[in-house]
Amino acid sequence: MAKIIAGVATSHIPNIGVALDTGKAGDPQWKPVFEGYDYSKKWIADKKPDVVILVYNDHASAFSLELIPTFAIGCANEFQPAQTVWGPRPVPVVKGHPELAWHIAQSTILDEFDMTVVNRMDVDHGLTVPLSLMFGQPDDWPCKVIPLAVNVVQFPPPTGNRCYSLGKAIRKAVETFDEDLKVMIWGTGGMSHQLQGARAGLINAEFDKQFLDKLSADPEALARLSHVDYVREAGSEGIELIMWLIMRGALDTEAHEIYRFHYGVPVSNTALGHMILENPRS
Ligand code: DHB
Ligand code: FE
Repeated sequence: MAKIIAGVATSHIPNIGVALDTGKAGDPQWKPVFEGYDYSKKWIADKKPDVVILVYNDHASAFSLELIPTFAIGCANEFQPAQTVWGPRPVPVVKGHPELAWHIAQSTILDEFDMTVVNRMDVDHGLTVPLSLMFGQPDDWPCKVIPLAVNVVQFPPPTGNRCYSLGKAIRKAVETFDEDLKVMIWGTGGMSHQLQGARAGLINAEFDKQFLDKLSADPEALARLSHVDYVREAGSEGIELIMWLIMRGALDTEAHEIYRFHYGVPVSNTALGHMILENPRS
């Protein structure tokens, strides 16, 4: 049977990809950011997941206001890096796992989640920056990736509670897939940030720290946060943090935090957060 062995949360700040792709990762302002992932890179090279379910949001790269799926799962064989203002990132093509992705789509839809099946989707920094942070710059990504896109761009996004419940449904789906696979689930985006308007540049370090603490020890409390709580405390784009709750919902309640990196210095418009949680006996 397939099993979820661990969860990873990480910011997906686009400038991190630009720094890496333009050879600036060793520059003094970038070094501490990438060093914060040294442990994670070793850890994941040791764990060798077969598949990562990568929860992220599309930033009007693959979707536009013409089509706004709340939850969309990528069931294709592969996904190309998306065209963005900097052009497509020079990173490997993302290889999917269509059989597991279709199984998750079927299982979650029959569990009454209205999941959109996507057979063609280019993937932007929301998905590729976390891959770069965890795997560096390989010729090919070392595992299959199932993109799971969540609408956090156009109101109304799903609630944090709905995301947490979806995580549980994804866990059930994975555990009923009849092949021995080591699966990880990642939640990306956040932490507190606002990219426009009067509060542009907002960073709420205290909220971010509490969010990390609760992600580890009391995710049910986070699932109760409302959209207004996110906007007030974490800025308009802080809503990306609901995607971390899909990851957390898919893990055991007793999952333990094995690594945390909270870098409070603005990396571009915002600070950065990262956590690894492992399921018991994995
Ligand atoms: C920034 C953009 C993002 O999409 C994000 O999730 C975090 C930060 C930025 O431009 O700083
Ligand atoms: Fe984002």
